[in-house]
Amino acid sequence: MTGQSRIGVTGLAVMGANLARNIARHGVPVAVHNRTGARTTEFIEAYGDEGEFTGTQSLQEFVDALERPRRIIVMVKAGKPVDGVITELTPLLDEGDIIIDAGNSHFPDTVRRTAECAANGIRFMGVGVSGGEEGALLGPSIMPGGDPEAYAEVKDVFEAIAAQVDGTPCVVHVGPGGAGHYVKMVHNGIEYADMQLIVEAYDLLTHVAGLDAPAIGKIFEEWNSGDLESFLIEITGKVLAKVDEKTGGPLVDVIVDRAGQKGTGTWTAIDALGLGIPLTGITEAVFARGLSALRDERKKASTTLAGPNPSAAEDRTDLVDDIRQALYASKVVAYAQGFAQMRAASLQNDWNLDLGAMATIWRGGCIIRAQFLNRIRDAYAEHPDLDNLLMVPYFTEAVANAQDAWRRVVVTATEQGVAIPAFSSSLSYYDGYRRERGPANLIQGLRDFFGAHTYERIDAEGSFHTRWAQDGTEVRTD
Ligand code: 6PG
Repeated sequence: MTGQSRIGVTGLAVMGANLARNIARHGVPVAVHNRTGARTTEFIEAYGDEGEFTGTQSLQEFVDALERPRRIIVMVKAGKPVDGVITELTPLLDEGDIIIDAGNSHFPDTVRRTAECAANGIRFMGVGVSGGEEGALLGPSIMPGGDPEAYAEVKDVFEAIAAQVDGTPCVVHVGPGGAGHYVKMVHNGIEYADMQLIVEAYDLLTHVAGLDAPAIGKIFEEWNSGDLESFLIEITGKVLAKVDEKTGGPLVDVIVDRAGQKGTGTWTAIDALGLGIPLTGITEAVFARGLSALRDERKKASTTLAGPNPSAAEDRTDLVDDIRQALYASKVVAYAQGFAQMRAASLQNDWNLDLGAMATIWRGGCIIRAQFLNRIRDAYAEHPDLDNLLMVPYFTEAVANAQDAWRRVVVTATEQGVAIPAFSSSLSYYDGYRRERGPANLIQGLRDFFGAHTYERIDAEGSFHTRWAQDGTEVRTD
């Protein structure tokens, strides 16, 4: 039996529901399904008049409602639930039907599912979707990965529902296999770094500049009209300005300082370690969430471990602007690192990622949307094989101009005992990256001393070992 719905959505929690509504609002007939049928009924009651929906109570009814090839968006919790849905759907589908996992799945799972589905004649796509609840409804940034021919079957729908910036939809076919979920993972890693940099600025503005939440909220509001203009800076201003109904004080002051995480930042950091890509900004952001979760330990340590004696706040105007510059320079580094990671993964997996296109589709709809992504897009348009964004004149100059302020902020924070892992590690990365000769020669000497791991010489080809503990002579080992 062939139904009339162009596309189906199974999983009607808020993201799935909003995506289905977004699709229907663009005139595309949508079949909807949820494991608990009552939710489908509620969905149709609440939103049925927004477009052409077919509410279905069983998976059989759901697949029967779809035109061929069937296009099924699965919007369930990442992990086992995705496999569960695929297992249940598979016997009901026909050759060439398409399953689209639009959740935050880990890309190796997407690679595995693609192969498993292919063995059953089903085309599988792993699609990153960013923008939270509102984005899903009003226009997300979409990062589709998988078979390009399968993508061609849904391209028009994705382009219609995606956010649009300057007439360009924030969606592009990212690459084969796990590429879409990989890019979404790095997006989330960058989201972690962006937020960590924001909270380090907030911490300094609170504990060094001595400002309260509403005053800091105003500063973020101002910053949002300059180089830092972005969704996360904008909502930081709003979160800091929010008054708590219960206490009458800033809401942020009564929120527990323990950050949650669902895993995408950790995956990004682990993957960077595997690739050998220095990803200090994102990784420090993940560690900082881990430290935030050690709330009970921190409580004990706060009365046991000594910090510096606080000194008087410095000139606030200079300090506030220094923090802004430190935030911007660190942000440039975090993006440079994230894009370097995508480049390395693309080379390793033969994905042929168009990094400029990734910057383009992140300009709207997603959590890290920012003006600054236009600069990244331009950088890759001019230099498609760029090793590192820091090497493009715009970013080279931006960081050079900010570096004095950045260094002052790191010094001040260190003197005052305020933890700034992302600011300081980004600066160390910058200082390490711009050195022609670093200190790893000594690491090689040590490795060769204790393990005969050999070293190379700057003045000769080949690999060498010194008999450190014997007669001290050097031998060539290759
Ligand atoms: C997005 C967000 C979204 C989700 C994060 C939150 O792009 O829309 O990234 O995917 O809000 O996964 O992640 P944590 O819970 O790990 O902070």
